[in-house]
Amino acid sequence: MLSLTDNAWKEALIPTYNRFPIRLSKGKGTSVWDQDGEHYLDFTSGIATCNLGHVNEFVKQRVESQLSELWHCSNLFEIPSQEQLAQKLVDTTFGNQVFFCNSGAEANEAAIKLARSYAQTVKQSNAFEIVTFTSSFHGRTMATLSATAQEKIQKGFSPLVSGFRHLPYNDLTALEQIVSEQTCAVLLELVQGEGGVIPADVEWVKALEAICKEHGILLMIDEVQTGIGRTGSLFAYEQYGIRPDVVSVAKGLGNGIPIGAIIATNEAAKGFRPGAHGSTFGGNPVATTAGLSTLTYIEEQAVLQQVKVKSDYIFSELKQLQKERNIIKDVRGKGLLIGIELEGNAIDTVLALQRQHILTLIAGQHVLRVLPPLTVSTEEIDQFIFCLKSVV
Ligand SMILES: Cc1ncc(COP(=O)(O)O)c(C=O)c1O
Repeated sequence: MLSLTDNAWKEALIPTYNRFPIRLSKGKGTSVWDQDGEHYLDFTSGIATCNLGHVNEFVKQRVESQLSELWHCSNLFEIPSQEQLAQKLVDTTFGNQVFFCNSGAEANEAAIKLARSYAQTVKQSNAFEIVTFTSSFHGRTMATLSATAQEKIQKGFSPLVSGFRHLPYNDLTALEQIVSEQTCAVLLELVQGEGGVIPADVEWVKALEAICKEHGILLMIDEVQTGIGRTGSLFAYEQYGIRPDVVSVAKGLGNGIPIGAIIATNEAAKGFRPGAHGSTFGGNPVATTAGLSTLTYIEEQAVLQQVKVKSDYIFSELKQLQKERNIIKDVRGKGLLIGIELEGNAIDTVLALQRQHILTLIAGQHVLRVLPPLTVSTEEIDQFIFCLKSVV
């Protein structure tokens, strides 16, 4: 319950969010508690961020120990935990080099700058244009909202950053339009998260990759939401059998401690030279320690194998429910990035589930988005299904 004082404090915030009146103050694993001690199951993971559950003990211990050593040190000095995290990302992905920042939008900003700079300073061409796709979401900074092909995100912010061209998603026939003399890169999500949990078709992605390789266009994958195990592999691109040139990552990388990064091939990374890009906080010792321990935990605890089992289980339960309830139009997604398309407004289901103490999200008007931590238990999934059954 809100007190009068809480309401007064709320007015000190610029209202950029439509917030639910729930004041969370504690979390552990899939569980969160509000200020009155009411318990909820968090099937949002802070929007695909606390992938290893809230206050993961392994990550917490390492971050706490880093906090007692050094919090911040500028990128004018060498930062050992940053180097180790970069090495781990390189060892476990297609990439050869990493740049660190603090969020998903910043990671995509870095990718956009790298693509233009690679074309203009390495290839000595005039190419600047980046192709993105309808219903995409790439962030809220001026360049990333210009990249985002959704009018509602762009409205009121003109003039937009120029040089983005939007094509239909999953449309093989539109692919040839990608190539123009000005195109330097393509940027896409392999499962559109905010846009309605829409997985890309394998055939389409492979055709896209072939065109990019043929014409020397950088293939950049936005894995801000799909990355760090969310779709069942460390990154979603692995399931498509493609080799990107650049991948952007954030959210789950620090399990809740802010961090972002781009991972690039040696060739694409030539686009940045000293002074070309930077960030005061990017890759600081605390954030990179969180990133390193998150990846170590995923590896040591075989988290990805568990995602596959849990994903198969929750999808089979949801598909069964779909057969029983006409209101469920579609169940889709990958791993534990799940969209349930409903007849009617998904927000009504989110609110009904909240009354049952389950937290979920929407993705567009009709899609209920379900993002449990990768460490969710079968009992917790059962409880979610039980509550969902009672509200749909
Ligand atoms: C695919 C994708 N890209 C970029 C972003 C922006 O990330 P951030 O909010 O950390 O800036 C998001 C956030 O939801 C996202 O889902």
